[in-house]
Amino acid sequence: MNRRNLLLGTALCAGTAALIGFAAPAPAQSPKIKVGFMLPYTGTYAALGNAIENGFRLYVDEQGGKLGGREIEYVKVDDESEPSKATDNVNKLIKRDNVDVLVGTVHSGVALAMAKAAKDSNTILIVPNGGADAITGPMCGVNIFRSSFSNWQPAYAMGEVAAKKGAKKAVTITWNYAAGTESTNGFKEAFEKGGGSVVKALNLPFPGVEFQALLTEIAATKPDVVYAFFAGGGAVKFVKDYAGAGLNRSIPLYGPGFLTDGTLDAQGDAAQGMFTTLHYADGLNTPRDNAFRLAYAKTYKLQPDVYAVQGYDAAQMLGIGLKAVNGDVTKKPEFAAAIEKAKIDSPRGRSRSARRTTRCRTSICARWWGKRTSWTGSRSRRSPIRPGAARADLPHRSFPLWGKER
Ligand code: BEZ
Repeated sequence: MNRRNLLLGTALCAGTAALIGFAAPAPAQSPKIKVGFMLPYTGTYAALGNAIENGFRLYVDEQGGKLGGREIEYVKVDDESEPSKATDNVNKLIKRDNVDVLVGTVHSGVALAMAKAAKDSNTILIVPNGGADAITGPMCGVNIFRSSFSNWQPAYAMGEVAAKKGAKKAVTITWNYAAGTESTNGFKEAFEKGGGSVVKALNLPFPGVEFQALLTEIAATKPDVVYAFFAGGGAVKFVKDYAGAGLNRSIPLYGPGFLTDGTLDAQGDAAQGMFTTLHYADGLNTPRDNAFRLAYAKTYKLQPDVYAVQGYDAAQMLGIGLKAVNGDVTKKPEFAAAIEKAKIDSPRGRSRSARRTTRCRTSICARWWGKRTSWTGSRSRRSPIRPGAARADLPHRSFPLWGKER
């Protein structure tokens, strides 16, 4: 008997009892929806995992603790950003804890394992970060959703920025796993289309932070720009080491906004002069984003970042889906159709999603990190759409030029 049958059965039993004169038992509590967070709570991505959970819980709390009329209950697994443990970890949530919905994760490699397990077990999965292109491409299914981005998206935008700024020779540097590879490939694709050339692609194993030998190689290569994908604790160390080696004085450092989001305070002056591109920025200054930022800061005594927004939006997606099926998670096609149709009122701006989505029309903001950090440009752009492309319509702020420092 599924949960919906259980509910109907309980209601009928209560009615019969009343009819024959016995005191009716108190109406059974509607079973809760069990959400399984599989996120990194330790390691280089720990802060990202916590921000996602905070954002998710904030939205649910704003709805009085219920989505689609069902109370939400949480169970958690620390995935440690460790792909080799991912299948076991996700199966703890699916098989041991019997979760209705999986939410996770940050690391693309772990997210890919989650997507496979979700597909095999037909469990709803909402990915609130992990950008592996395949998750919303070939691996996508009627039960799989993502509230974030594909690794290609912000990377491609930065390749355009770098080429438009006149750079000809770039070096890329990253961790050697799906996110790093897809991000640096996205940068290369746009940069080379714009007339530049990636002359060296450097990498190190995740989550290593021994950057010195690679920084020496960058200094010897003398590129016009460096494009780096790192995030969390590793991004703090990389940006500090880059500045510590004096490279920031001669070779501008570019990257997706993960290089600075949630890490800027810890990077301090080392982040001066960097350029980043992302689908969210804390200076949006829209009523929706301001309300979100205030609520988050009041609740957690922390400033939100892109990861918190993605967690918040994951909860919104779940709410939309559950409402459409009256809390019955077994109705996967109806659940998915509702999410697909909806305009999500994200702090990033109203957004829509589409089935099997990897490349998209989206607004990416380019920011230069200076003494008075500011937006330097934002543009709604239409990227080449391959089969399975995504759409996200974000608020569009126009600035005259990409990449013009102010
Ligand atoms: C990823 O593994 O997909 C990822 C991790 C951190 C930030 C962005 C992407």
